[in-house]
Amino acid sequence: MPRARRGSLAVFPGSFDPITNGHLDIIARGLHVFDAVRVAILVNSEKRGLFTVGERVEIIREAYRREPRVTVDTFSGLLVHYGRRVGATVIVRGLRAVSDFEYEFQMALMNRRLDPRIETVFMMPAESYSYVSSRLVKEVFELGGRVRDLVPPVVERRLREKYGRAPAKAGRGKGRNRG
Ligand code: PNS
Repeated sequence: MPRARRGSLAVFPGSFDPITNGHLDIIARGLHVFDAVRVAILVNSEKRGLFTVGERVEIIREAYRREPRVTVDTFSGLLVHYGRRVGATVIVRGLRAVSDFEYEFQMALMNRRLDPRIETVFMMPAESYSYVSSRLVKEVFELGGRVRDLVPPVVERRLREKYGRAPAKAGRGKGRNRG
């Protein structure tokens, strides 16, 4: 895969409440093309998440503690203003399915209009993550379902702490309540 300019920084913006393996997959793909990826969490005062923005930062830092090319930050206001401020040339977004496209296309064109110097690049996660979203992960966990393999271990642990739940037993969720 072609490599972008030396020192290239891509911003990967989102809510990340919480980060999923689909997001991790996109970050890994981003690292193949860009020198560094900055995960930028939107601070949205109108939307209270399950995890506070501070907790989301901690979770992502822990997930990438051995990967210095991935950094985490928060932003408010326009994404392109944030991108320019940190010297990013690219916005990376994941496209899971056609249903993502319309919203993403609108955002990409609006961002281009706001600042044509920052390019949006779409990346497709592995098919196995095409149905994974933060919203569904939270719903499944809250209702007692298994989220291992859908999120990094730190997220599963933090979900358990949040809901005051004991670690899942090995094999739980497999072969039960079928049909
Ligand atoms: O993961 P999400 O919640 O779909 O991410 C949406 C996000 C954070 C990328 C988007 O809401 C955003 O960039 N917000 C910042 C405000 C902004 O720049 N708006 C104009 C561009 S459309």
